[in-house]
This record gives sequence, structure tokens and C-alpha cells, in this order.
Amino acid sequence: MKTKLIVIFLVCTFFGYGQKKQANKVVKIKPKAEFVAELMSKMTVEEKIYQTVQFTSDGTVTGPKSGDNFITRIQQGKVGSILNATGAKETREIQRINLENSRLKIPLLFGHDVIHGYKTIFPINLGMASSWDPKAVELAARVAASEASSAGVHWTFAPMVDIARDARWSRVSEGSGEDPFLGIQMAIANVKGFQGADLSKNNTILACAKHFAAYGAAEAGRDYNTVDMSERVLRETYLPAFKAAAEAGVKTFMTSFNEISGVPSTANKFLLRNVLKGEWNFDGVVVTDYTGITELVAHGFATDEKNAGELAMNAGIDMEMVGGVYMNFLKKSYDEGKVSLAQIDDACKRILNVKYDLGLFEDPYRYSDVNREKETIYKPEFLNASLEVAKKSLVLLKNSNQILPLKSSQKIAFVGPLVSDEYNMIGSWAALGDRNGFATSVKEGVVNYLRKSTNATFDEGVEIQSVNRDKMQKALDNAKNADVIVAVMGERENMSGEAASQTTIDLPGLQKEFLAELKKLGKPIVLVLLNGRPLTLTWENENMDAILEAWWPGTRGGDAIAQTLFGANNPNGKLPMSFPRKVGQLPLYYNHKNTGRPYLGLSDPEQKYKSQYTDVGNSPLYPFGFGLSYTTFNYSNLKISSDKINFNEKVKVSVDVSNTGNYDGQEVVQLYVRDLVGSVTRPVKELKGFEKIDLKKGETKTVTFEISSEDLKFYTLDMKYEAEAGRFDVFIGTNSDTENKVSFELVK
Ligand code: NOJ
Repeated sequence: MKTKLIVIFLVCTFFGYGQKKQANKVVKIKPKAEFVAELMSKMTVEEKIYQTVQFTSDGTVTGPKSGDNFITRIQQGKVGSILNATGAKETREIQRINLENSRLKIPLLFGHDVIHGYKTIFPINLGMASSWDPKAVELAARVAASEASSAGVHWTFAPMVDIARDARWSRVSEGSGEDPFLGIQMAIANVKGFQGADLSKNNTILACAKHFAAYGAAEAGRDYNTVDMSERVLRETYLPAFKAAAEAGVKTFMTSFNEISGVPSTANKFLLRNVLKGEWNFDGVVVTDYTGITELVAHGFATDEKNAGELAMNAGIDMEMVGGVYMNFLKKSYDEGKVSLAQIDDACKRILNVKYDLGLFEDPYRYSDVNREKETIYKPEFLNASLEVAKKSLVLLKNSNQILPLKSSQKIAFVGPLVSDEYNMIGSWAALGDRNGFATSVKEGVVNYLRKSTNATFDEGVEIQSVNRDKMQKALDNAKNADVIVAVMGERENMSGEAASQTTIDLPGLQKEFLAELKKLGKPIVLVLLNGRPLTLTWENENMDAILEAWWPGTRGGDAIAQTLFGANNPNGKLPMSFPRKVGQLPLYYNHKNTGRPYLGLSDPEQKYKSQYTDVGNSPLYPFGFGLSYTTFNYSNLKISSDKINFNEKVKVSVDVSNTGNYDGQEVVQLYVRDLVGSVTRPVKELKGFEKIDLKKGETKTVTFEISSEDLKFYTLDMKYEAEAGRFDVFIGTNSDTENKVSFELVK
């Protein structure tokens, strides 16, 4: 297949197509409704169905390619969208083949997974969520859209807004963690960043809220696994970020692979027709995940592919990603009356609408501009943005005796398998990001920062996942002579992301053993972690002097880490997911229920008959919202404006936050609420607001939040979304563990 494309390129170059086409023909067209209606009036049923067909090119694939030559299918005019084609030149050429062969010359839509950057790679999404800074996330998406659009990509399959409470699930790295409120802010920021204010601009692209829905709740954290949950939990925890994305104007949704309570999402009428297209009035495109329709057969929900296509179309799937079921069977299903023309028309119209929104009917080549691509990719300001966002995503988990920041005068032994690693820095699902030779390693970051030959040493010591001890001794010998040891360890990028779930989430391989050997040297040790999920760090927390969670920080990650280690950046990230003490605690999340036998501590024998484990406490090692700074913050003077409000009033809650340490810093002030009694039980705490503030050394600021009955709504016993009268505790603090509270009553 590749050969075929290359031949086409050569022919085009020879005949000068490449250059000639830079001057695109732009045609003026009618307003959207009129234009699309007129076009559809000329289309046969087959042609309408072909708009719903998406095939993959030869790029990265996440499953079987369904055996079809996509170029042949395009030549037959049977394709509406192509997945995984990238680069101005390639997309331009594929578009040309399409336009020259399809009867009505309807442009193709090019989609790609632009998850945390296209070329300039930002931290993985879980890292970006750690910034608790929606503006930073929006900027990252904006940069990604600028780069991707210049390379011919019209559509990203992002953001992933799945709530994730189980770190065994490998895709936690792609989302914003365990909390619906934080998830909502990140979903909105991403949609704004990718789509901008005007989709017809050539530097904005379609965003896609995925995976609809509850994909992150897979049983036992195993990817693609079954989900069984109440409608209440679905609506309260798993749907809000999707709803927020829809309200923010996201143009597309992707269904999830999983079933929910017996019905796979890809054939789930309740989800797609009732909730998404009904209640939420979503008028964009719903695409399946990769071969999602075909998989309805393996789910045991459809008898065969044809039946699967009918179920999907009836449920509200507009476009099929790979699989060819719509292409092969939908016309027959229509002839047999199993799907209606109205449904096919509706799917086709939605797809043509987004093509119109992007301006493709005016100029199908407008995003595939080789010159713009060259000027746009890796612009210095994009690389700088990736550094700034990376600095915001680092979370300081421990810092005994203020061992950090390091001093350049210290003799430092940098060790660990990731110390000089460039490949893994940009993490998994990193689109077209360059790895070796481009991303900065920690070693390069340190050398860049110190700008002179340092007396630091750099030794791998062990590999990420192997039993080879050959290099350990040399690393230990160098570390012996150092004032401080910095161990850079973690996961390989492909240990997280799709289809990489794990039953253990310890530091892999010999890394812990190596740390234990280093510990015997009696030197202070700083552990820098590069990884894609919460790990179990109980031993590390007891034995290391400092721990910096750096996730996979992106193209400029090494610089961000070095600047932070040496104090040019004061860490200000906060965890978007709880870190368990042991894997057996999973799923683990701060906004759990109290139960009838709440846990009060393990030490008291009277506590036996409580909801707890006998070997480890219930609390996480590091709670949701946790993250330290080189400075210290003090919270005081928590005040509430009234101890009673009615349903039309607001209550103000304020707190004074002081920087009591020795550095300027940033703090994320967090507001949690507990509804003490409800017609159904309520979580022990729920995040309802946060504000990231700058505080100079010695400075105090008052932070005020407002709460109204709107913020207190939930799905009551009879599934009404409303607030109930009663008492509420309000907590403000530095993480979800805070006990700093006031209370008020909501009265009728
Ligand atoms: C499968 C993944 O689940 C989805 O997130 C992705 O967008 C598609 N493959 C396309 O690559």
C-alpha cells in the first residue's frame, strides 16, 4: 500500500501537481442548510451511506484494518473520512484522488489522534490535568490544532473525558483523572483549544469527546472490559464531562468499546438517541471507536455484521470507524426496511455539516498546505508553551528536610533507566512527536540549565524492565561520591495507553531493588518519576527523601524537570487521581460514600466490623488534589457569609491563604462540599471549585467561592436533578483530605 502511495507522489511531483496546488481554488457557496440540502438532493442512498464510512490509511492503527485497500475504496467513491493520514503532502494527494473519482466531489475528512500534541508534544493528559490550570490545557490544544491543521488534519479524536478511578486501567494517562468537576473544566478547555472560536479558520480542528460512555469504569481496570452501573452513577460521575463538552460546542462524539449494563455503547439507544441527541440536543457527528460496530457480534449483541450495522444505525451512530459494515450492508438493510432513509439522511447531513463548517466545500485543500506546515511545525513559541505547561504539570509528592531544590554547587549523581532517555519523555499516544534526537532528556535538561560542565554523573544503573544487573555497580560507585542522588525512574511509554492494563503498578523491573542499594549509601535521594498512571509508592515514600511526579512531560520535559529540580520553577501541580498504598485498594477515589460502617482507623480492635481491609488502611498514600511546593502555605480565617440560604440565594465562603515559606509559589485552593443527608446517599466530599493563585513570599490573599443551590444538585431518589434542603459541610484546603470546614443549611 505504501508503495502505491509513493508511486502516486512521484507521478504528482513529476507533473508538478505539488506546487501548482498551493494556489487553491476557493469557491463561494450558499449558506449551510441550503447548500447541504441541495447537495443531498443529488445524492443516491449509496452515496449518502458512503459519507458514513471511515477507513484507515496506513498510519498507526489500533486494530485490524479490515483488509481493504483504502485508496481503492476512495477511487470507488465509497469513503467519507480517512483516519491516520497525516502531512500536508499525503492528505493533499489522498484528497485529490477522492475529488477526481467521486461523482459529487465531496471532500474527505481527515481524522487523527492528536491527544497531547501533534509534533510539539505536551505532557500526557493526566499530567496536564495535574496543572489544575484550564488555560494551560487550552493553550496546549490550541498549539496541537495549529500544527495538526497545517498538516491536513481536520479532526482530532480528543479529548478523552473518561473518568478513571482505577490505576490498573492503562488509559488513565489519556484523561483528566477521577473527578467529574475537574474533568468538566479540562473537557471545556480542550474543546475551546482545538475548535477555537471559529471552525472555518484554517488553524482550528474538530474535537471529539470520547469514549461515550463509562469506558474508564471497566471492571478490574482491564481495558475494554464490561461496565455495569446504575443510571444515577452514570449521570452523576461519568456523563458530566461529556455534557460539558457538548455544551462547549464539541462537534463530534466517539462511542466507547464497552457495554453498559448489558448494552454496548455502540448500539446504545438510550445513550445516543435519548441522552446525547435528545436531552442534550447534540447536532454533531457520532463516530464509533475502531471496529466498534463489528465488535457488536463478539459482544453477543448482534447476530452478524449486517445486524450489527442496523443496531448501530438505529441507535444513532453516524459514522463507522473502520470495519466497513455500513459500506457493505447498510444499503441492503435499508432495502429490507431495517433502517430508515430518515436515519441515513440524518447521519449524512451531520457529516456534511461538519465538512461545511471546516470550509472544505469552499476549498478541500485548505488544510493541506505544505508551506504552512513547514512554517508551523515546532514554532519556537510552541516549544516554549510545551515547556511552560510541563512545568505546571509536575507534582511534588515529598520533600523531607527541603532537600529540593538542589544547588548547582552540589555534587549530584543522576541515575536510573530514564535519566538520559529521550524516547519515553513524550509518553504514549504522542501523534507525530519526534522522540530520539528531539525530545529533551533529564540529562540534557540538566546540562542546558547549568550551562557549564557540571560535576554531575549520569548512569543508567538498571533498565526499566529487565533482570540485567551489569550496570548497577558502576552507578553505585559514582553515587558513593555524590552529595545527593537523583534517581530518574518509571515506566516505558507503552506501559500505559490503550491495551496496556496491569495487575501490579509498582515501579517495574529492578528499579526498586536499585533504589534499595542506593539507599544503603546513606545519601539523600530524590526520586523523579516518569510514568503514565498512579503507581504504588509506599516503600518509596518511606525511603526516599524527595519524590517528584513528572508523568511523561513532553518534548521539553527534560528542561522542565531540570528547572524544577534546581528551583527555577517551584512545583505547583496537584494530583488528579489518588495514589493507592496497595493495588488491592483499587478502585480508589476521594469522593466515595461513607457506608453504614465507616472506617475510623485500624489500630482500635473495636473497629473490626468496619468497611476496611485488615492489612492496610483505607486512605490513599497521596490523596486527590495533593501536591507540595518548595514554599509552605497556611490556611486561616475560614468564613461563611450565612449559615442559612434559600434556593435562590448564594453563600460566600472565604479563606485567607498565606505563603509562609521562603519561595514565591502557586497554590491550588480547593473547595469541597458534603451533603450530609439525602434521599439517596451522597459522597463524603465533592470538589465544587478551585482557584490557582500566585503568592509571593510572605504574601496573604483571601480567596472567596460562591455556592448556590445549582452547585448542590444531584439525581434524587426519583431521578430528578435537583438540590435537596438540608445541611452541607463546606471544606476549603490544599487537597481533598482537608478537614478545614464550615457549614450551612439550605432551606425551602
Ligand atoms: C482506538 C481508541 O480507543 C480511540 O481512542 C482512538 O481514537 C481510535 N482507536 C483511533 O485511533
